[in-house]
Amino acid sequence: MLDARVCDLLNNQVNKELYSAYLYLDFSIFYADNGLDGFANWYMIQAQEERDHAMLFLQYMQNNGCSVNLEVIDKPDKTLSAIDDPLKEGLTHERYVTDLIHAIYDAANDVKDFRTMQFLDWFVKEQGEEETNAEGLIKKFELFGDDPKSLYMLDKELGERVYSAPSLKL
Ligand code: FEO
Repeated sequence: MLDARVCDLLNNQVNKELYSAYLYLDFSIFYADNGLDGFANWYMIQAQEERDHAMLFLQYMQNNGCSVNLEVIDKPDKTLSAIDDPLKEGLTHERYVTDLIHAIYDAANDVKDFRTMQFLDWFVKEQGEEETNAEGLIKKFELFGDDPKSLYMLDKELGERVYSAPSLKL
Protein backbone atom coordinates (compact mmCIF):
# COMPACT_ATOMS: atom_id res chain seq x y z
CA MET A 1 0.00 0.00 0.00
CA LEU A 2 1.42 3.37 -1.03
CA ASP A 3 1.36 6.62 0.92
CA ALA A 4 -2.02 8.41 0.61
CA ARG A 5 -0.51 11.60 -0.83
CA VAL A 6 1.44 9.65 -3.44
CA CYS A 7 -1.78 7.80 -4.39
CA ASP A 8 -3.62 11.15 -4.73
CA LEU A 9 -0.95 12.57 -6.98
CA LEU A 10 -0.90 9.42 -9.12
CA ASN A 11 -4.69 9.59 -9.37
CA ASN A 12 -4.45 13.22 -10.47
CA GLN A 13 -1.88 12.22 -13.08
CA VAL A 14 -4.32 9.75 -14.66
CA ASN A 15 -6.63 12.71 -15.21
CA LYS A 16 -3.85 14.97 -16.54
CA GLU A 17 -2.67 12.35 -19.03
CA LEU A 18 -6.24 11.87 -20.27
CA TYR A 19 -6.52 15.66 -20.55
CA SER A 20 -3.27 15.63 -22.57
CA ALA A 21 -4.82 13.08 -24.92
CA TYR A 22 -7.90 15.28 -25.24
CA LEU A 23 -5.76 18.37 -25.89
CA TYR A 24 -3.72 16.67 -28.61
CA LEU A 25 -6.87 15.34 -30.20
CA ASP A 26 -8.03 18.95 -30.36
CA PHE A 27 -4.73 19.93 -32.03
CA SER A 28 -5.17 17.08 -34.52
CA ILE A 29 -8.67 18.28 -35.39
CA PHE A 30 -7.38 21.86 -35.84
CA TYR A 31 -4.73 20.69 -38.33
CA ALA A 32 -7.15 18.43 -40.22
CA ASP A 33 -9.53 21.40 -40.53
CA ASN A 34 -6.63 23.46 -41.94
CA GLY A 35 -5.58 20.89 -44.55
CA LEU A 36 -2.38 19.78 -42.80
CA ASP A 37 -3.03 16.06 -42.53
CA GLY A 38 0.57 15.23 -41.56
CA PHE A 39 0.45 17.51 -38.52
CA ALA A 40 -2.98 16.04 -37.75
CA ASN A 41 -1.49 12.54 -37.88
CA TRP A 42 1.39 13.53 -35.59
CA TYR A 43 -0.98 14.82 -32.90
CA MET A 44 -3.41 11.92 -33.32
CA ILE A 45 -0.55 9.56 -32.46
CA GLN A 46 0.53 11.87 -29.63
CA ALA A 47 -3.01 11.61 -28.22
CA GLN A 48 -2.75 7.82 -28.33
CA GLU A 49 0.56 7.96 -26.43
CA GLU A 50 -1.03 10.13 -23.74
CA ARG A 51 -3.83 7.62 -23.31
CA ASP A 52 -1.15 4.94 -22.90
CA HIS A 53 0.48 7.07 -20.19
CA ALA A 54 -2.84 7.34 -18.34
CA MET A 55 -3.27 3.55 -18.51
CA LEU A 56 0.25 3.00 -17.13
CA PHE A 57 -0.49 5.24 -14.12
CA LEU A 58 -3.85 3.53 -13.63
CA GLN A 59 -2.32 0.06 -13.80
CA TYR A 60 0.52 1.00 -11.45
CA MET A 61 -2.04 2.25 -8.92
CA GLN A 62 -4.06 -0.94 -9.19
CA ASN A 63 -0.91 -3.07 -8.81
CA ASN A 64 -0.01 -1.20 -5.62
CA GLY A 65 -3.27 -0.91 -3.71
CA CYS A 66 -4.28 2.68 -4.57
CA SER A 67 -7.94 3.12 -5.43
CA VAL A 68 -8.51 4.87 -8.76
CA ASN A 69 -11.14 7.61 -8.93
CA LEU A 70 -11.78 8.95 -12.40
CA GLU A 71 -12.43 12.69 -12.40
CA VAL A 72 -13.97 15.01 -14.99
CA ILE A 73 -11.62 15.68 -17.92
CA ASP A 74 -11.37 19.41 -18.67
CA LYS A 75 -12.36 20.74 -22.08
CA PRO A 76 -9.30 21.66 -24.20
CA ASP A 77 -9.03 25.39 -23.54
CA LYS A 78 -6.14 26.57 -25.73
CA THR A 79 -6.85 29.27 -28.31
CA LEU A 80 -5.78 27.99 -31.72
CA SER A 81 -5.74 30.41 -34.63
CA ALA A 82 -2.22 30.62 -36.13
CA ILE A 83 -0.86 27.42 -37.66
CA ASP A 84 1.93 27.18 -35.09
CA ASP A 85 -0.27 27.83 -32.04
CA PRO A 86 -0.59 24.10 -31.20
CA LEU A 87 3.19 23.69 -31.42
CA LYS A 88 3.76 26.45 -28.86
CA GLU A 89 0.88 25.35 -26.63
CA GLY A 90 2.18 21.78 -26.83
CA LEU A 91 5.59 22.77 -25.46
CA THR A 92 4.04 24.81 -22.65
CA HIS A 93 1.81 21.86 -21.79
CA GLU A 94 4.66 19.34 -21.77
CA ARG A 95 6.68 21.56 -19.43
CA TYR A 96 3.65 21.65 -17.12
CA VAL A 97 3.37 17.85 -17.22
CA THR A 98 7.09 17.55 -16.44
CA ASP A 99 6.50 19.67 -13.31
CA LEU A 100 3.62 17.38 -12.29
CA ILE A 101 5.77 14.25 -12.69
CA HIS A 102 8.56 15.87 -10.68
CA ALA A 103 6.09 16.75 -7.90
CA ILE A 104 5.03 13.09 -7.64
CA TYR A 105 8.70 12.11 -7.56
CA ASP A 106 9.30 14.59 -4.73
CA ALA A 107 6.36 13.20 -2.74
CA ALA A 108 7.59 9.63 -3.23
CA ASN A 109 11.09 10.67 -2.20
CA ASP A 110 9.73 12.28 1.00
CA VAL A 111 8.35 8.91 2.16
CA LYS A 112 11.21 6.79 0.74
CA ASP A 113 8.86 5.16 -1.74
CA PHE A 114 11.59 3.75 -3.97
CA ARG A 115 9.16 1.64 -6.00
CA THR A 116 7.22 4.68 -7.19
CA MET A 117 10.44 6.58 -7.85
CA GLN A 118 11.64 3.72 -10.03
CA PHE A 119 8.28 3.61 -11.86
CA LEU A 120 8.52 7.37 -12.45
CA ASP A 121 12.05 7.18 -13.84
CA TRP A 122 10.61 6.13 -17.21
CA PHE A 123 8.30 9.19 -17.21
CA VAL A 124 11.10 11.57 -16.24
CA LYS A 125 13.02 10.40 -19.32
CA GLU A 126 9.89 10.41 -21.47
CA GLN A 127 9.16 14.02 -20.51
CA GLY A 128 12.67 15.00 -21.57
CA GLU A 129 11.98 13.43 -24.97
CA GLU A 130 8.55 15.04 -25.27
CA GLU A 131 9.94 18.50 -24.55
CA THR A 132 12.73 17.95 -27.08
CA ASN A 133 10.19 16.83 -29.70
CA ALA A 134 7.98 19.86 -29.01
CA GLU A 135 10.97 22.22 -29.26
CA GLY A 136 12.05 20.50 -32.48
CA LEU A 137 8.63 21.03 -34.08
CA ILE A 138 8.73 24.74 -33.22
CA LYS A 139 12.23 25.08 -34.68
CA LYS A 140 11.26 23.30 -37.89
CA PHE A 141 8.20 25.48 -38.27
CA GLU A 142 10.26 28.63 -37.71
CA LEU A 143 12.66 27.50 -40.43
CA PHE A 144 10.19 26.16 -43.00
CA GLY A 145 6.67 27.31 -42.06
CA ASP A 146 6.63 30.43 -44.23
CA ASP A 147 7.47 28.66 -47.47
CA PRO A 148 4.51 26.65 -48.92
CA LYS A 149 6.71 24.00 -50.56
CA SER A 150 8.74 23.46 -47.40
CA LEU A 151 5.58 23.36 -45.29
CA TYR A 152 4.20 20.72 -47.64
CA MET A 153 7.36 18.62 -47.14
CA LEU A 154 7.23 19.08 -43.36
CA ASP A 155 3.59 18.01 -43.34
CA LYS A 156 4.55 14.93 -45.36
CA GLU A 157 7.32 14.09 -42.87
CA LEU A 158 4.95 14.37 -39.90
CA GLY A 159 2.44 12.22 -41.77
CA GLU A 160 4.93 9.35 -41.68
CA ARG A 161 4.89 9.07 -37.89
CA VAL A 162 3.51 5.69 -36.81
CA TYR A 163 2.22 4.64 -33.43
CA SER A 164 4.30 2.39 -31.24
CA ALA A 165 3.30 1.10 -27.82
CA PRO A 166 5.22 2.45 -24.79
CA SER A 167 8.45 0.63 -23.91
CA LEU A 168 7.48 0.56 -20.21
CA LYS A 169 5.83 -2.71 -19.22
CA LEU A 170 4.26 -3.22 -15.79
FE1 FEO B 1 2.19 12.06 -20.98
FE2 FEO B 1 3.13 14.24 -23.03
O1 FEO B 1 3.08 13.61 -21.25
